[in-house]
Amino acid sequence: MKATDLAISVKGLKKSYKNKLVLKDVNFDVERGSIYSLLGSNGAGKTTTIKVLTTLLKPDGGELKVSGYDVLGESEKVHQAISLTGQFASVDESLTGMENLILIGKLNHIGKPKDRAVELLTYFNLMDSAGRLVSTYSGGMKRKLDIAMSLVNRPEIIFLDEPTTGLDPQSRHSMWAIIEELKDSGVTIFLTTQYLEEAEQLADKIGVLDKGTIIVEGTAQELKNMLPQGVVEFTFTDEDLLNQACSLTAKYKTTAIREENKLIIYTDGSADTLSLIFQKFASNGVGIKAFAQKSPTLEDVFLTLIGEKEGIGNE
Ligand SMILES: Nc1ncnc2c1ncn2[C@@H]1O[C@H](COP(=O)(O)OP(=O)(O)OP(=O)(O)O)[C@@H](O)[C@H]1O
Ligand SMILES: [Mg+2]
Repeated sequence: MKATDLAISVKGLKKSYKNKLVLKDVNFDVERGSIYSLLGSNGAGKTTTIKVLTTLLKPDGGELKVSGYDVLGESEKVHQAISLTGQFASVDESLTGMENLILIGKLNHIGKPKDRAVELLTYFNLMDSAGRLVSTYSGGMKRKLDIAMSLVNRPEIIFLDEPTTGLDPQSRHSMWAIIEELKDSGVTIFLTTQYLEEAEQLADKIGVLDKGTIIVEGTAQELKNMLPQGVVEFTFTDEDLLNQACSLTAKYKTTAIREENKLIIYTDGSADTLSLIFQKFASNGVGIKAFAQKSPTLEDVFLTLIGEKEGIGNE
C-alpha cells in the first residue's frame, strides 16, 4: 500500500505524563475512507492518543503522520485536514445551534458560513431547533451539534472521542447512522469507544489498546477468530462450586461471571477436551446446573486479551 493511502500512520508513539508512562509503543495505520476504532478500558490512553494526533499534546517519541503530514513538523497542514473536535471546547451553551456553527465558520474563514450552518443543521435534523439556545438541547442534540461543528471546515479525517458515551440507545443508533453516512461520504473516522458492540457495528478495523500498546488489531471477525472455537458456558448453583470449577480448569482460558455463577471456558472445541472437563467436574463432585455452547463475542475477545476480569487463566 502506498503511504498516501493512509489517513493516519503511527509508529512507535510514546507519551508519559510526568513519570507516568501511558503510551509505551503504539503502532497502527488507518486507511483513507475507513473507520478505525480504538478500544480500551478507562485510562488506557485513548484520549491521549487522540490529543497527540490532533496536535493538542506533544508526544515523547514516534513517527506520526496525519493525512500524510508530520504531526510535529507540519501541524498547520494537519489542522487543515482534521476536524475541529477537541480544539474548540465543544459547543457554547449560551449561543443557539445556528450561532455556534456560524461562529466556527467565521473563525475558520470559510466562505458563506451561514449557508454551511444551514446545510449542516439540515443534515443533522436540527433545523427546527436552530434558533434555540444550546442549553435547552438534549444530550443527543448537543452531541450532534458537536459533530456538525467539527464538520464545518469539511475535514478529511475526523476524530471522535467516545461519541456515544452517555447517550440513550435511540440516540446512540442515530449517531451510528451519522457516522456511517460520514464514512460513505469519504471521510476517514478515528473513534474511541468502550463499547464493543459499537466497534463491531462501525469499525473496519479495531485496535485494542492495553498497557501502552495495541495488543491486538483486526476486523471484528478476525478478532473473534482469535478465540478458540469451542466456547462453552457452565452455570453452577453457588459460588463455592464456581470456585472449584475455576481451579479445576485453570489450564484453560476462562472468564468467571460471579454474579451469575457462570464460567466461560475457551476450549479447542474437541470432544476429548469437553469430555475431560465434564469428567473432572463429575469426579470432584462439582454439579452443573446448566451447560451451553457459545459463539465467541467481541466481549469475550476483549476480556480474554485484557485479562481484567477475575478468573482468567493465562496459558
Ligand atoms: N494531564 C494529565 N496529567 C497526568 N496524567 C494524565 C493526564 N491526562 C491523562 N492522564 C493519565 O493518563 C492515563 C490515560 O488517560 P486517557 O485520558 O488517555 O485515557 P482514556 O483511555 O481516554 O480513558 P477513558 O476511557 O476514561 O476516557 C490515565 O491513567 C490518566 O489518569
Ligand atoms: Mg478518554
